[in-house]
Amino acid sequence: MKPWPYPLWIAHRGAGKLAPENTLAAFRLGAAHGYRAFECDVKLAADEQAFLLHDATLERTSNGHGSAGSLGWAQLSRLDAGAWHGRAYAGEPLPTLEAIAAYVIANAFHLNIEIKPTPGLEARTGEVVAQRVRQLWAGQAVPPLLSSFQPQALAAARDAAPELPRALLLDTLWDGWFGMAQALDCVAVVTNHQLMDAALIAQLHGAGWRALCYTVNDAADAARLRALGIDGLITDAVDRFPPAA
Ligand code: G3P
Ligand code: MG
Repeated sequence: MKPWPYPLWIAHRGAGKLAPENTLAAFRLGAAHGYRAFECDVKLAADEQAFLLHDATLERTSNGHGSAGSLGWAQLSRLDAGAWHGRAYAGEPLPTLEAIAAYVIANAFHLNIEIKPTPGLEARTGEVVAQRVRQLWAGQAVPPLLSSFQPQALAAARDAAPELPRALLLDTLWDGWFGMAQALDCVAVVTNHQLMDAALIAQLHGAGWRALCYTVNDAADAARLRALGIDGLITDAVDRFPPAA
């Protein structure tokens, strides 16, 4: 396997559930707990601004309504992405990928960008995100790891910026996943932690890939996976898992 530049512990959506997910405030809270690597979800506004949001719709994590991908950045940038979480975060904006890049690079942190396309925009999202990442991280020693559940998004990212490392996300071991990860020239596979066992890690490492899991919030699960030789753990529990451990 090639050298792996990313820390073992990765804070999910910035800092998991302790701050509003996928906001700069969440990244700052994760960093305050010692985290140096972060996962976030990125999709495109109607004008193709790349920004952070998990859901296809705005209701759960902002005061907006409807499909996020149908609004331009001028409208999205005025939304409140913090008040839903609590009064302490009222007024927190949705971040652009550019803003998160500035923060991550300034602090020499590591980033796992999950390409989370608005349905129907898989290939275009992968292409645009890869192009932006190439520009934003130009000259940096360690680029972000691009991951996605959507092979179409990873294929488009590969075609746009083949030098950026890619990981296939798996919530199930669907037929053909191994060949797909090969075809996408992935460096890692990131699975639901319940799928990971000794045989799967051996298969991944045997192919020269790293093995990562999401979303690991239980100490017994973390201990099991570490004993297996896991390469990365994506967690919400930044207050309970010291990242240096
Ligand atoms: O990238 C790993 C994890 O974030 C995938 O699930 O739904 O939290 O984006 P989700
Ligand atoms: Mg995610």
